Amino acid sequence: MFSQDQQNSLLQQTKELLKNSQLKAIEKAEAENILPQLRQVLNFHDWLYYVLSEPQIEDIDYDYLFDALKISEERFPELISPDSPTQRVARGLSEDFPTVSHLVPMLSLQKAYNNEDLRDWETSIKKLIQQEEVEYAIEPKYDGASLSLIYENDFLVRGATRGNGTTGDDITNNVKTIPTVPLSAPFSKYGIHRIEVRGEVVISKQKFEQMNKEKEAAGEKLYSNSRNTASGALRQKDSSKVMDKKLEAFVYQVGVAMNEAGNDLAKQVVSHSKGVQMLYDLGFKTPYKDEKEDNHICQSMDEVIAFCDRLRETRDDYDYEIDGIVIKINSLELQELCGATSHHPRWAIALKFDARQAVTTLENVEFQVGRTGAITPVAKLATVNLAGANISNASLHNEEFIKEKDLHIGDQVIVERAGDVIPYIVQVIPEKRDGSQVPVTFPENCPSCQEKVEKTEGEAVWRCVNTDCPAQVEERLIHYVSKGAMDIRGLGRDIIKRFFKDGFIQRIPDIYHLDYAKIQELEGWGERSVAKLKESIEASKDQPLSKLIIGLGIREVGRGTARNLLEAIQSLEELQNWTVEQLIELPDIGPKVAANIVEFFQNEKSQQLLADLKAAGVNMKKRAVDQPKLDSNLLAGKTFLFTGTLQQFTRNDAKKMVESNGGKILSAVSKKLNYLVVGEKAGSKLKKAEKIETVSILTEEEFLAMVNPAT
Ligand code: IVH
Repeated sequence: MFSQDQQNSLLQQTKELLKNSQLKAIEKAEAENILPQLRQVLNFHDWLYYVLSEPQIEDIDYDYLFDALKISEERFPELISPDSPTQRVARGLSEDFPTVSHLVPMLSLQKAYNNEDLRDWETSIKKLIQQEEVEYAIEPKYDGASLSLIYENDFLVRGATRGNGTTGDDITNNVKTIPTVPLSAPFSKYGIHRIEVRGEVVISKQKFEQMNKEKEAAGEKLYSNSRNTASGALRQKDSSKVMDKKLEAFVYQVGVAMNEAGNDLAKQVVSHSKGVQMLYDLGFKTPYKDEKEDNHICQSMDEVIAFCDRLRETRDDYDYEIDGIVIKINSLELQELCGATSHHPRWAIALKFDARQAVTTLENVEFQVGRTGAITPVAKLATVNLAGANISNASLHNEEFIKEKDLHIGDQVIVERAGDVIPYIVQVIPEKRDGSQVPVTFPENCPSCQEKVEKTEGEAVWRCVNTDCPAQVEERLIHYVSKGAMDIRGLGRDIIKRFFKDGFIQRIPDIYHLDYAKIQELEGWGERSVAKLKESIEASKDQPLSKLIIGLGIREVGRGTARNLLEAIQSLEELQNWTVEQLIELPDIGPKVAANIVEFFQNEKSQQLLADLKAAGVNMKKRAVDQPKLDSNLLAGKTFLFTGTLQQFTRNDAKKMVESNGGKILSAVSKKLNYLVVGEKAGSKLKKAEKIETVSILTEEEFLAMVNPAT
């Protein structure tokens, strides 16, 4: 879309515009000149960010330019253009989506399930075209919602769903909110007056996971899969809810392309891959940017099959859900020769990957008690094979989830496995019920200790609040020996469970007083394995203090908090006297975590635990291993935050410079902040810092002088 020269010039223009501190207050004559520039620059940065994933501008600078454009457009509405980035934002409620006809039907694809099916297809097309050599273009088959886009005179005029293939829903306003769909594209360069482009709307695996994490944290119903979520989002009546910037559209096909006179120009592009390349050049997100990239073009079915075999193996590494591979004859002339049935074109085929959904029986629901007492329901399923893995468990998250899905023991359920994530129950099949199924009920008592379970207002999780609950004790033991904590090899989950059951270990300190002679007599144990176990238990006494802090299992205290605590103490015992007020003074420790820490250390049982660990010889002192390796201590105890566009160094370098000299980076301006280093165009952070007397404001040069006093 943008040549290197254009890119350089647009970056230069960006700089110029950013220098203009009056940009939000321009007069009409100036606006007529500057608004087109602003639009072009912002569209360019959208492209860098969303299509290339290579942003070249700070968020704050982008926001400054965007706000300037918006303010001027509000003042001079006659200057608004339909491809202004401001036009991507919500346009209120749609009553209903009008039904629209596709310019040419949106057909399906015929399917292949294995290499043999591909060979059969090869034979059939070669018969049709009477030609031995065929070039194929291959693309991932995106598992999303299909989309049709129409551009007229270079502007996006319509976005529609596939619908029944002949007619779909007009979802133009929602489509405009998708950042990878250009609101205008210079098709006229190619003599194209009207074009229909096809593609797929998807949500990346990473964004989808993050969305569900947020849902889970809020105790809300989870999204079942990214395809349904994307297609649901496209039909949102309220376009402000079309999931702000989570949707992406890949385009992979030209439907029709016409010149002014209405003649079809599609054939002027000689191959499918050249068409895709043209779309990429016009600013769209496509399966590949260059037809030569990554073997997307194959000269024979052998090459196609080798490609497919590779992609099948690496499917999970892909950033988007794909459910197969689409193989298309590359020459448009040959495509025409093959033609289409009413259902699918003969020139393409989709090789489908193994199913990742299967139907099985929900045999039982078990309620597991975690280390902090949280009760998690787990589905026990009749074992079923899903894309190569045997599945017999699925997480059910919480009570809401069970109610939501209306789960009954004995139900037939659809399970799905996406990537490496834990299998998931998509839905029950109510038609398969025969009356013998019983609703799943959440227990009122802890399945381990039988105490009543409790739920905090506003939380989705039921908890057992009895800290002596055997299940919790066992989980705490498992956590203590785990890799991230004291890392006692040879004492994993199963052995802890066995020792706990047999009475060898009841509390953490018991680990250090094991009766090795007795253990040696147990089945499966011998002299050597006992000696090894003893060795790793002894070695754990010498673990860095941070590992012990993690191992104690204080709620919400992980590696980061352990490190922050270690900056303030010399030995663990000191923490027994700390108050919430003192703790929240430490970098990045908030009131909730502080309260958890105080509660832990004031608890008599914890005090006994620490005394027993000390008596057993477990290290409680901070030592050199707990200190990060530093270039100097120049910034020890000082906190920093960087804002604005930095000219002298990158944000990452800044972080390294601070940390390697003993300082800390904070994430927000607060009273805990000592220094705010400001680059160009600093915004709200600077304003906030100016109001706090104790924050010193530094230029980049002043900061460099602090780290490098000699120069
Ligand atoms: S080509 C006439 N290419 O698969 C053929 N389709 O089963 C036009 N799909 O409705 C489709 N990735 O939504 C094509 N790289 C790709 C695709 C793709 C996903 C979807 C598309 C279509 C369905 C056909």
